[in-house]
This record gives sequence, structure tokens and C-alpha cells, in this order.
Amino acid sequence: MPSFLIVYGTGEGQTAKVARQLGETLSELGHAVRIEDIDEIDADVGLGDHDALLIGSSIHAGRHHGKVIDFIEMHVDELATMPNGFFQVSLSSAGDDVARATAAGYIDSLIERTKWTPDRIGQFGGALRYSEYGFLKRAMMRRLGGRSLDATDTTRDYEYTDWDEVRTFAEDFASFVTQRVS
Ligand SMILES: Cc1cc2nc3c(=O)[nH]c(=O)nc-3n(C[C@H](O)[C@H](O)[C@H](O)COP(=O)(O)O)c2cc1C
Repeated sequence: MPSFLIVYGTGEGQTAKVARQLGETLSELGHAVRIEDIDEIDADVGLGDHDALLIGSSIHAGRHHGKVIDFIEMHVDELATMPNGFFQVSLSSAGDDVARATAAGYIDSLIERTKWTPDRIGQFGGALRYSEYGFLKRAMMRRLGGRSLDATDTTRDYEYTDWDEVRTFAEDFASFVTQRVS
């Protein structure tokens, strides 16, 4: 059975939660999975110790996690030698068609910047974690994200991740990798 490495970058934890769900689904399918937070990862983590790689990042202020971009740029040649995928977590993916086009634009920018075209791409809705934001961030997120999603009650959090979608992405990626490496 192919083994998987999942590397992710997160701000408030939603991408970590998605990474864990992806890992859980892959484990249930019988695969060995290692999950690494980019903020704690060993710089010389061995990609070659795994059959496939998933990289994930949330979007903050229109940008991916800086260390995730650095990681991709550092490993771009190695990435070409193994089945790989990218998953993105953003509020734009939870919105209307215009917002979803914005989310797709973040992916286009990533590909253009890193010259890495992932074999598989997942775009998932994120969360509004008002309980974890400071005063300014709470006010900004209420104005920017909250209004368009009708999620302006800052006394509670909102989660827009479609967990069925996350599981389906993991299952599709697992069968793609299994075909590629067998
Ligand atoms: C300060 C801040 C800025 C954000 N900027 C964007 C943005 O530009 N576009 C977007 O689609 N989502 C944006 N979001 C929403 C995040 O992508 C969403 O909250 C996601 O769940 C964060 O994932 P994380 O907890 O893994 O960092 C922003 C969130 C925060 C807190």
C-alpha cells in the first residue's frame, strides 16, 4: 500500500483539521500516513520516504502560508518525481461563484509562482473563528468575510468545510496514487 506525507500550513487551525481528516480517511483505507505542520517540520524531511505527497495551505489576505510556498519551491524538482496534490482552505471557497473564482485565482497564482502544477487539487471552505481573533481581526473578518456569508454574529464561530468533500478528495487521491505506483 502506498504511504502518504501530508504537509500543511495553518493560521487558526482549520487547515490542520482538514489535514487530519485527509489523514484519517487515508488511514481507514489502509495507508500509512505522516502529517506535518510546516511551522514545526524538520527542514530535511525525507520526501522520498513516502510514495505520495499532499501539501495544504489556508489563505490569509489573499496569500498562502509563506513557509508552504518556501517548502514547495525547495522541493519542486522532487515533487515532479512523485504523485502529489495540493489542498487549499479559504472562505472564498465557501462563497458564491464570484468568490469561488477568487479561490481558483489563488491556485493559479500558486502555480505561476512556484511552477508546480499539482496532480490533484482540492479547494475547501474554511472557518470563521471569531473566538480566536483579537479585536481588530474580529472586526475586519466580520466586515470582509462575515457579511458576504451572513456570518456576522461574533459571539460564535462558523465552519464552512464540507467534510464529505474532504473525504471524497482523499479517496480519489488514494486511488490515483495507488494506480500510479503499482
Ligand atoms: C486575517 C484573515 C485574513 C483572511 N483572508 C482571506 C482572504 O483573503 N481570502 C479568503 O478566501 N479567505 C480569507 N480568510 C479566511 C481563511 O482562509 C479561513 O478563515 C480559513 O479557515 C483559515 O484557515 P486556517 O485556520 O487553517 O488558517 C482570512 C482569514 C483571516 C483570519
